[in-house]
Amino acid sequence: MTATTDRAAPTTRLWDLPVRLVHWSFALLVPLLWWTAESGKLDLHKNLGLVMLALVAFRLLWGVVGSDTARFARFLEGPAAIRNYLAGLRSSDHAPVVGHNPLGGWSVIGLLTLLALQVSLGLFAQDTDGVKSGPLNYLVTWDTAKALSEAHEVGFNLILALVALHLAAIFYYRVMRREDLISPMVTGQRRFAVPVAAPRMAPLWRAAVCAMLAGGLAVWLSTGLALPWDKPPAAPPPPADYM
Ligand code: HEM
Repeated sequence: MTATTDRAAPTTRLWDLPVRLVHWSFALLVPLLWWTAESGKLDLHKNLGLVMLALVAFRLLWGVVGSDTARFARFLEGPAAIRNYLAGLRSSDHAPVVGHNPLGGWSVIGLLTLLALQVSLGLFAQDTDGVKSGPLNYLVTWDTAKALSEAHEVGFNLILALVALHLAAIFYYRVMRREDLISPMVTGQRRFAVPVAAPRMAPLWRAAVCAMLAGGLAVWLSTGLALPWDKPPAAPPPPADYM
């Protein structure tokens, strides 16, 4: 990405509001989810996990119908493009990339896949005494739930490793290539040294529809897949000495 700090260069709108809001929510939620799990605040952990699930579902939908720089089809490229990009990094006059570069694109997929797997495992997980389990825990046996809960713990370490790599890459661009990737993720705007075609931004109503679908999915999963015509659970029988 041929970015510049030259104040005379025109700014280009790079990241839309939904991408930025979802991104900084991820950055906030990952440590919060870790802390709530470690400190045994499992009710809060489950609720924050459902918020994470809605955000991941939203980002997956937005990757299909969102702005140009959010769309998977726009930034996922094959090995040849990655090789060219890496070769270009070594020369000083490589063409600017507007959005995720071919390598960064795959790291985005890696992060989103791990987050999606992690929230899915959480739905089936159970705590040690089986009291504060995920809403879909009732669908699996005790042993399966135990195995899924262990995978849920391993998943977190994998997320941490990928986030560390993510931050190392951002640090590399900052220090070695003098490119500030963080400000555009905050403001949405970026200056390029050469004129670039502005990415198309999707309308916010489309984001609202995706948010409703993603939120609806999270709420439905939180009910344990209840359907409107399901009968409410039967009341427990009264105690024997009830008059
Ligand atoms: C748990 C923490 C984090 C997760 C899970 C995460 C995840 C992601 C994801 C999925 C993207 C792709 C954005 C999209 O297309 O939707 C991204 C991009 C980005 N993230 Fe993070 N992130 C985390 C923390 C951070 C932090 C702490 C920073 C800054 C200090 C940061 C800076 C960035 C930047 C600058 C980009 C854009 C990279 C580019 O220009 O291609 N992230 N992150």
